[in-house]
Amino acid sequence: MNPKIPYESAALRNATRASDAARIREQLADAGIHAWGSDELLRYERNLTRYFSREYRNLTANNAQLDELRQSSATLPMAQQTERLMDEHYDEPLALFERFLDRRYMAYTMAWFGDDAGACRNNPVSLEQAQSDKFALAAERIGLCGNERILNIGCGFGSLETWLFERYPDVQVVSITPSKVQAAYIRECMADPEHPIRSDRLRVVEKTFEQMMAEEPAAGQFDLVFSFGMFEHVANLDAALSDIHDCLRPGGRCFIDLIVSKPVFLQHMDADRTLIGRYFPGGRVWPYDALPLAAGKLEVTGRWFLNGTNYWLTLDHWHRNFWENIEALHPAVLDAPAVKHWNDYFVLCKAVLFGPLDGDTYGDGYYVFRRRD
Ligand SMILES: C[S@@+](CC[C@H](N)C(=O)[O-])C[C@H]1O[C@@H](n2cnc3c(N)ncnc32)[C@H](O)[C@@H]1O
Repeated sequence: MNPKIPYESAALRNATRASDAARIREQLADAGIHAWGSDELLRYERNLTRYFSREYRNLTANNAQLDELRQSSATLPMAQQTERLMDEHYDEPLALFERFLDRRYMAYTMAWFGDDAGACRNNPVSLEQAQSDKFALAAERIGLCGNERILNIGCGFGSLETWLFERYPDVQVVSITPSKVQAAYIRECMADPEHPIRSDRLRVVEKTFEQMMAEEPAAGQFDLVFSFGMFEHVANLDAALSDIHDCLRPGGRCFIDLIVSKPVFLQHMDADRTLIGRYFPGGRVWPYDALPLAAGKLEVTGRWFLNGTNYWLTLDHWHRNFWENIEALHPAVLDAPAVKHWNDYFVLCKAVLFGPLDGDTYGDGYYVFRRRD
């Protein structure tokens, strides 16, 4: 066998791929869709970030609206527009998410780089490592031992499950997602003998949390509940936290992560009035102080505001991955308007939410709750 042949054909393949990608980028740029790292997009992102920094600097805290906000949400269903949310976002083709999320965990929430903007920017770790560090931080804050019965609400592609089963073979996990694409992906991983989540200690439930509670109430069954990035889809915090209380055994604990704003922005409670609804029908950005007010019978034992630069960097990795794989995505998976839709998503999240004021206006809230009785 001539070892030069596979080498040459791989080199040729790479060259073809690179020229395909360059051609696609050029075509998209001609249609006004600019790639990650291009001068045009960098300039646009910088200007937008500067504009929103000025807007946020002029805001004054108005926590008087907090209670009003919570009370009006307490009359709503737990979540709204979930079917549309699945159709228009989470049930987009798997190939799309595989091309921008980290390969190991497929985590679709903020990774952890550091305590403040400077520490984040100076942390050279990969996205995959930063996702793993995020789960380690959450495990430390909730006090995970490694032998618990765990409920994971809004499990995505099984990122937490992968992290857990890599380290703690004795945990038992029930994972919920209403997304058929995510549930199918997890089932495929469970059937793969090489994958950490092949365990028979994992059960995936393809339902919403509210459906699960109505159809198979989990009274006192769990030692720990985790939820990463799901509470942005919760309209009624009181109802969701009350159901979590009921799932936990007395003394059981819950860890919640969600995108939050430090100030109260009332318009963020109506997805149809903001850009949130374009990407996440029924979605919300809750103020950082809202969750503890809805704790009900749960005790808040810890809460942290995580600087938004963590999310900015996460999104920037996703955005770069998206463009580095553009020839696999366009036109086979996404037509040009869909490329624009997703490109705008990465840009807007970075420049409107997490970039301004060095990540001090929007970031993630981490909360630990404990069931008292
Ligand atoms: C941003 S993703 C986060 C996924 C995962 N936790 C992670 O960190 O990679 C939000 C998750 O919440 C799920 N979700 C949305 N609405 C839900 C609901 N009403 N009940 C349960 N899960 C929901 C979505 O299907 C998705 O799995």
